[in-house]
Amino acid sequence: MIRARITGTGSYVPEKVLTNLDIEKFLDTSDEWIRTRTGINERHIAADGENTSDLATRAAERAMEMAGVSAADIDLIVVGTITGDYPWPATACIVQSNLGAINAGAFDVSAACSGFLYALSCAVDRVEAGRSKKALVIGAEALSRIVNWEDRNTCILFGDAAGAVVLEACEGEHGVLSTHLHADGTHLELLYQPGFGTRMQPSEQALKDRNYFLHMQGNEVFKVAVRSMTDVANIALKANNMSVEDVDLFIPHQANIRILNATAKKIGFRDDQVYINVERFGNTSGATIPLAMDEANRAGRIKEGDILLLDAFGGGFTWASAIVRW
Ligand code: COA
Repeated sequence: MIRARITGTGSYVPEKVLTNLDIEKFLDTSDEWIRTRTGINERHIAADGENTSDLATRAAERAMEMAGVSAADIDLIVVGTITGDYPWPATACIVQSNLGAINAGAFDVSAACSGFLYALSCAVDRVEAGRSKKALVIGAEALSRIVNWEDRNTCILFGDAAGAVVLEACEGEHGVLSTHLHADGTHLELLYQPGFGTRMQPSEQALKDRNYFLHMQGNEVFKVAVRSMTDVANIALKANNMSVEDVDLFIPHQANIRILNATAKKIGFRDDQVYINVERFGNTSGATIPLAMDEANRAGRIKEGDILLLDAFGGGFTWASAIVRW
Protein backbone atom coordinates (compact mmCIF):
# COMPACT_ATOMS: atom_id res chain seq x y z
CA MET A 1 0.00 0.00 0.00
CA ILE A 2 1.17 3.53 -0.75
CA ARG A 3 1.31 5.70 2.35
CA ALA A 4 1.86 9.43 2.78
CA ARG A 5 4.96 9.81 4.94
CA ILE A 6 6.05 13.05 6.60
CA THR A 7 9.65 13.52 5.42
CA GLY A 8 10.17 17.13 6.49
CA THR A 9 8.73 19.64 8.93
CA GLY A 10 9.18 23.39 9.11
CA SER A 11 7.75 26.37 10.89
CA TYR A 12 8.04 30.11 11.11
CA VAL A 13 6.89 32.69 13.64
CA PRO A 14 7.17 36.46 13.14
CA GLU A 15 9.93 38.21 15.07
CA LYS A 16 7.74 40.53 17.10
CA VAL A 17 6.71 39.11 20.48
CA LEU A 18 3.72 40.55 22.34
CA THR A 19 3.75 39.58 26.01
CA ASN A 20 0.85 39.69 28.45
CA LEU A 21 2.63 42.59 30.14
CA ASP A 22 2.61 44.47 26.82
CA ILE A 23 -1.16 43.86 26.52
CA GLU A 24 -1.72 45.11 30.09
CA LYS A 25 -0.52 48.50 28.87
CA PHE A 26 -3.43 49.04 26.46
CA LEU A 27 -6.22 46.77 27.74
CA ASP A 28 -8.09 46.24 31.01
CA THR A 29 -6.52 42.86 31.75
CA SER A 30 -3.57 41.39 33.63
CA ASP A 31 -0.74 38.97 33.03
CA GLU A 32 -2.04 36.94 35.96
CA TRP A 33 -5.59 36.66 34.52
CA ILE A 34 -4.32 35.65 31.08
CA ARG A 35 -1.85 33.08 32.42
CA THR A 36 -4.25 31.41 34.82
CA ARG A 37 -7.23 31.33 32.41
CA THR A 38 -5.34 30.44 29.22
CA GLY A 39 -1.76 29.36 30.03
CA ILE A 40 -0.51 31.90 27.47
CA ASN A 41 2.46 34.15 28.32
CA GLU A 42 3.23 35.63 24.91
CA ARG A 43 2.40 35.41 21.23
CA HIS A 44 4.09 36.46 17.96
CA ILE A 45 2.63 39.18 15.75
CA ALA A 46 3.25 39.63 12.02
CA ALA A 47 5.01 42.86 11.05
CA ASP A 48 3.38 45.46 8.82
CA GLY A 49 3.61 44.12 5.31
CA GLU A 50 4.21 40.56 6.49
CA ASN A 51 1.34 38.41 5.27
CA THR A 52 0.05 34.89 5.81
CA SER A 53 1.66 33.77 2.54
CA ASP A 54 5.04 35.05 3.77
CA LEU A 55 4.79 32.99 6.98
CA ALA A 56 3.60 29.98 4.99
CA THR A 57 6.42 30.27 2.45
CA ARG A 58 9.11 30.41 5.16
CA ALA A 59 7.67 27.37 6.93
CA ALA A 60 7.41 25.48 3.63
CA GLU A 61 11.04 26.27 2.70
CA ARG A 62 12.22 24.85 6.01
CA ALA A 63 10.16 21.69 5.61
CA MET A 64 11.43 21.22 2.04
CA GLU A 65 15.01 21.73 3.17
CA MET A 66 14.62 19.02 5.81
CA ALA A 67 13.00 16.64 3.31
CA GLY A 68 15.64 17.42 0.69
CA VAL A 69 13.09 18.18 -2.01
CA SER A 70 13.17 21.06 -4.48
CA ALA A 71 10.27 23.33 -5.45
CA ALA A 72 9.98 21.63 -8.84
CA ASP A 73 9.47 18.25 -7.12
CA ILE A 74 6.32 19.44 -5.32
CA ASP A 75 3.11 18.49 -7.13
CA LEU A 76 0.52 19.69 -4.57
CA ILE A 77 0.26 22.57 -2.09
CA VAL A 78 -2.63 22.69 0.38
CA VAL A 79 -2.85 25.54 2.88
CA GLY A 80 -5.20 25.45 5.86
CA THR A 81 -6.00 29.06 6.73
CA ILE A 82 -8.81 31.43 7.66
CA THR A 83 -6.63 34.52 7.30
CA GLY A 84 -5.53 34.26 3.70
CA ASP A 85 -3.86 37.23 2.02
CA TYR A 86 -7.05 37.74 -0.04
CA PRO A 87 -10.61 36.34 0.15
CA TRP A 88 -9.48 34.77 -3.12
CA PRO A 89 -7.40 33.59 -4.86
CA ALA A 90 -5.98 31.00 -2.52
CA THR A 91 -2.96 31.76 -0.38
CA ALA A 92 -1.63 28.40 -1.61
CA CYS A 93 -1.27 29.97 -5.08
CA ILE A 94 0.86 32.79 -3.63
CA VAL A 95 3.03 30.22 -1.85
CA GLN A 96 3.27 28.27 -5.11
CA SER A 97 4.53 31.40 -6.86
CA ASN A 98 6.90 32.37 -4.02
CA LEU A 99 8.47 28.91 -4.04
CA GLY A 100 8.53 28.57 -7.82
CA ALA A 101 6.69 25.26 -7.49
CA ILE A 102 5.87 25.18 -11.20
CA ASN A 103 4.55 21.61 -11.17
CA ALA A 104 2.15 21.97 -8.25
CA GLY A 105 -1.62 22.33 -7.99
CA ALA A 106 -2.52 24.62 -5.11
CA PHE A 107 -5.60 25.34 -3.02
CA ASP A 108 -6.68 26.51 0.44
CA VAL A 109 -8.85 24.71 2.95
CA SER A 110 -11.07 26.72 5.31
CA ALA A 111 -11.66 24.76 8.52
CA ALA A 112 -10.41 27.29 11.10
CA CYS A 113 -8.34 25.65 13.85
CA SER A 114 -8.87 22.22 12.26
CA GLY A 115 -7.52 23.63 8.97
CA PHE A 116 -4.18 21.84 9.04
CA LEU A 117 -5.73 18.43 9.68
CA TYR A 118 -8.37 19.00 6.99
CA ALA A 119 -5.58 20.04 4.58
CA LEU A 120 -3.51 17.03 5.60
CA SER A 121 -6.43 14.73 4.96
CA CYS A 122 -6.90 16.08 1.39
CA ALA A 123 -3.22 15.65 0.61
CA VAL A 124 -2.99 12.17 2.18
CA ASP A 125 -5.93 11.01 0.08
CA ARG A 126 -4.28 12.20 -3.14
CA VAL A 127 -0.95 10.63 -2.20
CA GLU A 128 -2.54 7.29 -1.28
CA ALA A 129 -4.52 7.34 -4.54
CA GLY A 130 -1.26 7.69 -6.46
CA ARG A 131 -2.14 11.18 -7.74
CA SER A 132 0.52 13.05 -5.79
CA LYS A 133 4.11 12.02 -5.05
CA LYS A 134 5.38 14.98 -3.05
CA ALA A 135 2.91 17.33 -1.36
CA LEU A 136 3.29 20.37 0.86
CA VAL A 137 0.70 20.78 3.62
CA ILE A 138 0.76 24.08 5.46
CA GLY A 139 -1.18 25.67 8.33
CA ALA A 140 -0.65 29.44 8.34
CA GLU A 141 -2.41 32.34 10.04
CA ALA A 142 -2.08 36.05 10.69
CA LEU A 143 -4.90 36.17 13.24
CA SER A 144 -3.62 39.44 14.70
CA ARG A 145 -5.19 41.07 11.59
CA ILE A 146 -8.73 39.90 12.43
CA VAL A 147 -8.85 40.07 16.23
CA ASN A 148 -10.32 43.12 17.88
CA TRP A 149 -7.51 44.51 20.03
CA GLU A 150 -10.12 46.28 22.17
CA ASP A 151 -11.90 43.03 23.07
CA ARG A 152 -10.19 41.46 26.06
CA ASN A 153 -12.30 38.30 25.76
CA THR A 154 -10.65 37.32 22.48
CA CYS A 155 -7.49 39.22 21.54
CA ILE A 156 -5.39 37.80 24.37
CA LEU A 157 -5.78 34.28 22.99
CA PHE A 158 -4.42 34.49 19.46
CA GLY A 159 -1.10 34.76 17.64
CA ASP A 160 0.50 34.49 14.19
CA ALA A 161 2.54 31.55 12.86
CA ALA A 162 2.93 28.95 10.15
CA GLY A 163 3.90 25.29 10.11
CA ALA A 164 4.42 22.94 7.19
CA VAL A 165 5.11 19.31 6.35
CA VAL A 166 6.32 17.58 3.22
CA LEU A 167 4.37 14.40 2.48
CA GLU A 168 5.94 11.81 0.20
CA ALA A 169 4.46 8.68 -1.30
CA CYS A 170 6.21 5.69 0.30
CA GLU A 171 5.73 1.94 0.46
CA GLY A 172 5.59 0.43 3.93
CA GLU A 173 4.17 1.02 7.37
CA HIS A 174 5.37 4.57 8.04
CA GLY A 175 3.16 7.55 7.34
CA VAL A 176 -0.28 8.92 8.07
CA LEU A 177 -2.33 5.91 9.19
CA SER A 178 -5.72 7.62 9.43
CA THR A 179 -7.55 10.93 9.26
CA HIS A 180 -11.03 11.64 10.63
CA LEU A 181 -13.00 14.81 9.86
CA HIS A 182 -16.19 16.10 11.50
CA ALA A 183 -18.30 19.25 11.33
CA ASP A 184 -21.42 20.82 12.81
CA GLY A 185 -22.48 24.16 11.35
CA THR A 186 -25.54 24.66 13.52
CA HIS A 187 -23.81 26.92 16.05
CA LEU A 188 -21.38 28.72 13.81
CA GLU A 189 -22.03 32.12 15.47
CA LEU A 190 -20.24 30.93 18.61
CA LEU A 191 -16.94 31.35 16.76
CA TYR A 192 -16.84 33.23 13.45
CA GLN A 193 -16.03 36.34 11.44
CA PRO A 194 -19.37 37.96 10.50
CA GLY A 195 -18.02 40.19 7.68
CA PHE A 196 -17.22 40.49 4.84
CA GLY A 197 -18.34 37.51 2.82
CA THR A 198 -21.40 37.54 0.59
CA ARG A 199 -23.74 37.65 3.61
CA MET A 200 -22.47 40.94 4.91
CA GLN A 201 -20.93 43.50 2.61
CA PRO A 202 -18.62 46.22 3.92
CA SER A 203 -20.62 49.25 5.05
CA GLU A 204 -20.08 52.08 7.52
CA GLN A 205 -22.43 50.38 9.99
CA ALA A 206 -20.77 47.00 9.63
CA LEU A 207 -17.38 48.56 10.27
CA LYS A 208 -18.76 50.43 13.29
CA ASP A 209 -20.18 47.16 14.62
CA ARG A 210 -16.73 45.61 14.37
CA ASN A 211 -18.03 42.92 12.07
CA TYR A 212 -14.72 42.45 10.36
CA PHE A 213 -13.33 40.94 13.56
CA LEU A 214 -13.37 37.44 14.99
CA HIS A 215 -16.33 36.93 17.34
CA MET A 216 -16.40 34.23 19.99
CA GLN A 217 -18.43 33.10 22.97
CA GLY A 218 -15.51 31.59 24.79
CA ASN A 219 -17.16 29.57 27.54
CA GLU A 220 -19.61 27.89 25.10
CA VAL A 221 -16.76 27.04 22.72
CA PHE A 222 -14.75 25.63 25.61
CA LYS A 223 -17.26 22.89 26.43
CA VAL A 224 -17.80 21.73 22.84
CA ALA A 225 -14.06 21.80 22.13
CA VAL A 226 -13.17 19.42 24.96
CA ARG A 227 -15.99 17.03 24.12
CA SER A 228 -15.30 16.99 20.36
CA MET A 229 -11.52 16.63 20.64
CA THR A 230 -11.96 13.77 23.08
CA ASP A 231 -14.46 12.01 20.79
CA VAL A 232 -12.41 12.32 17.61
CA ALA A 233 -9.23 11.17 19.38
CA ASN A 234 -11.04 8.06 20.61
CA ILE A 235 -12.46 7.42 17.13
CA ALA A 236 -8.91 7.52 15.71
CA LEU A 237 -7.54 5.16 18.37
CA LYS A 238 -10.37 2.71 17.81
CA ALA A 239 -9.99 2.79 14.02
CA ASN A 240 -6.32 1.86 14.38
CA ASN A 241 -6.87 -0.72 17.11
CA MET A 242 -4.75 1.34 19.46
CA SER A 243 -4.99 2.47 23.08
CA VAL A 244 -3.60 5.62 24.70
CA GLU A 245 -0.58 3.54 25.73
CA ASP A 246 0.38 3.07 22.08
CA VAL A 247 0.69 6.83 21.52
CA ASP A 248 4.17 8.29 21.97
CA LEU A 249 3.15 11.90 21.48
CA PHE A 250 -0.27 13.56 21.60
CA ILE A 251 -0.23 16.89 19.74
CA PRO A 252 -3.53 18.66 20.33
CA HIS A 253 -4.51 21.98 18.79
CA GLN A 254 -3.03 24.58 21.14
CA ALA A 255 -6.16 26.58 21.96
CA ASN A 256 -5.44 27.20 25.61
CA ILE A 257 -4.01 25.21 28.48
CA ARG A 258 -7.33 24.45 30.13
CA ILE A 259 -8.79 22.93 26.94
CA LEU A 260 -5.56 20.97 26.41
CA ASN A 261 -5.38 19.62 29.93
CA ALA A 262 -9.07 18.77 30.13
CA THR A 263 -8.96 16.95 26.76
CA ALA A 264 -5.76 15.02 27.52
CA LYS A 265 -7.14 13.97 30.88
CA LYS A 266 -10.46 12.81 29.44
CA ILE A 267 -8.72 10.71 26.79
CA GLY A 268 -6.43 9.30 29.47
CA PHE A 269 -2.97 10.62 28.56
CA ARG A 270 -0.15 11.06 31.07
CA ASP A 271 1.41 14.55 31.10
CA ASP A 272 4.62 13.31 29.45
CA GLN A 273 2.68 12.11 26.38
CA VAL A 274 1.26 15.58 25.63
CA TYR A 275 3.07 18.30 23.66
CA ILE A 276 2.33 21.82 24.85
CA ASN A 277 3.76 25.12 23.58
CA VAL A 278 0.71 27.37 23.89
CA GLU A 279 2.48 29.46 26.54
CA ARG A 280 4.87 30.87 23.89
CA PHE A 281 2.62 31.22 20.84
CA GLY A 282 -1.01 31.40 21.95
CA ASN A 283 -3.66 30.00 19.65
CA THR A 284 -2.35 30.27 16.08
CA SER A 285 -5.40 28.40 14.70
CA GLY A 286 -4.46 26.28 11.67
CA ALA A 287 -0.76 26.66 12.47
CA THR A 288 -0.64 25.20 15.98
CA ILE A 289 -0.29 21.50 15.11
CA PRO A 290 2.42 21.74 12.40
CA LEU A 291 4.28 24.32 14.52
CA ALA A 292 4.24 22.00 17.53
CA MET A 293 5.16 19.01 15.37
CA ASP A 294 8.15 20.87 13.91
CA GLU A 295 9.34 21.99 17.35
CA ALA A 296 9.03 18.47 18.73
CA ASN A 297 10.75 16.98 15.69
CA ARG A 298 13.70 19.40 15.75
CA ALA A 299 14.08 18.91 19.51
CA GLY A 300 14.46 15.14 18.96
CA ARG A 301 11.22 14.41 20.76
CA ILE A 302 9.92 12.31 17.83
CA LYS A 303 11.76 9.14 16.84
CA GLU A 304 11.35 6.85 13.84
CA GLY A 305 8.42 4.51 14.44
CA ASP A 306 6.77 6.75 17.05
CA ILE A 307 3.00 6.99 17.01
CA LEU A 308 1.60 10.55 17.01
CA LEU A 309 -2.02 11.46 17.62
CA LEU A 310 -2.97 14.88 16.19
CA ASP A 311 -6.27 16.37 17.34
CA ALA A 312 -7.99 19.68 16.56
CA PHE A 313 -11.19 21.67 17.05
CA GLY A 314 -12.20 24.99 15.54
CA GLY A 315 -14.76 27.34 14.07
CA GLY A 316 -17.45 25.83 11.91
CA PHE A 317 -17.56 23.91 14.17
CA THR A 318 -14.99 21.53 12.74
CA TRP A 319 -12.96 18.86 14.49
CA ALA A 320 -10.48 16.32 13.23
CA SER A 321 -7.77 13.84 14.16
CA ALA A 322 -4.92 11.98 12.51
CA ILE A 323 -2.66 9.15 13.57
CA VAL A 324 0.87 9.11 12.19
CA ARG A 325 3.59 6.47 12.39
CA TRP A 326 6.84 8.48 12.11
N1 COA B 1 -8.78 40.00 31.40
C1 COA B 1 -9.50 40.16 32.53
N2 COA B 1 -10.77 39.79 32.64
C2 COA B 1 -11.35 39.19 31.59
C3 COA B 1 -10.66 38.99 30.39
C4 COA B 1 -9.31 39.43 30.32
N3 COA B 1 -8.56 39.26 29.21
N4 COA B 1 -11.47 38.37 29.52
C5 COA B 1 -12.65 38.19 30.16
N5 COA B 1 -12.57 38.69 31.39
C6 COA B 1 -13.61 38.71 32.40
C7 COA B 1 -14.99 38.67 31.82
O1 COA B 1 -15.39 39.97 31.44
C8 COA B 1 -15.79 38.14 32.98
O2 COA B 1 -16.04 39.19 33.87
P1 COA B 1 -17.48 39.31 34.62
O3 COA B 1 -17.59 38.03 35.40
O4 COA B 1 -17.31 40.54 35.41
O5 COA B 1 -18.47 39.38 33.50
C9 COA B 1 -14.83 37.18 33.66
O6 COA B 1 -13.50 37.54 33.20
C10 COA B 1 -15.07 35.73 33.36
O7 COA B 1 -15.32 35.59 31.98
P2 COA B 1 -15.55 34.21 31.31
O8 COA B 1 -15.73 34.40 29.83
O9 COA B 1 -16.58 33.43 32.08
O10 COA B 1 -14.12 33.55 31.57
P3 COA B 1 -13.67 32.08 31.28
O11 COA B 1 -13.18 31.46 32.51
O12 COA B 1 -14.69 31.34 30.45
O13 COA B 1 -12.40 32.34 30.38
C11 COA B 1 -11.79 32.18 28.08
C12 COA B 1 -12.53 32.99 29.12
C13 COA B 1 -11.97 32.86 26.73
C14 COA B 1 -10.32 32.15 28.43
C15 COA B 1 -12.37 30.74 28.07
O14 COA B 1 -13.75 30.77 27.93
C16 COA B 1 -11.82 29.90 26.99
O15 COA B 1 -10.67 29.51 27.04
N6 COA B 1 -12.65 29.57 25.96
C17 COA B 1 -12.23 28.79 24.83
C18 COA B 1 -11.79 29.74 23.79
C19 COA B 1 -10.96 29.11 22.76
O16 COA B 1 -9.93 28.55 23.04
N7 COA B 1 -11.42 29.24 21.51
C20 COA B 1 -10.76 28.74 20.39
C21 COA B 1 -11.09 27.29 20.24
S1 COA B 1 -10.44 26.73 18.76
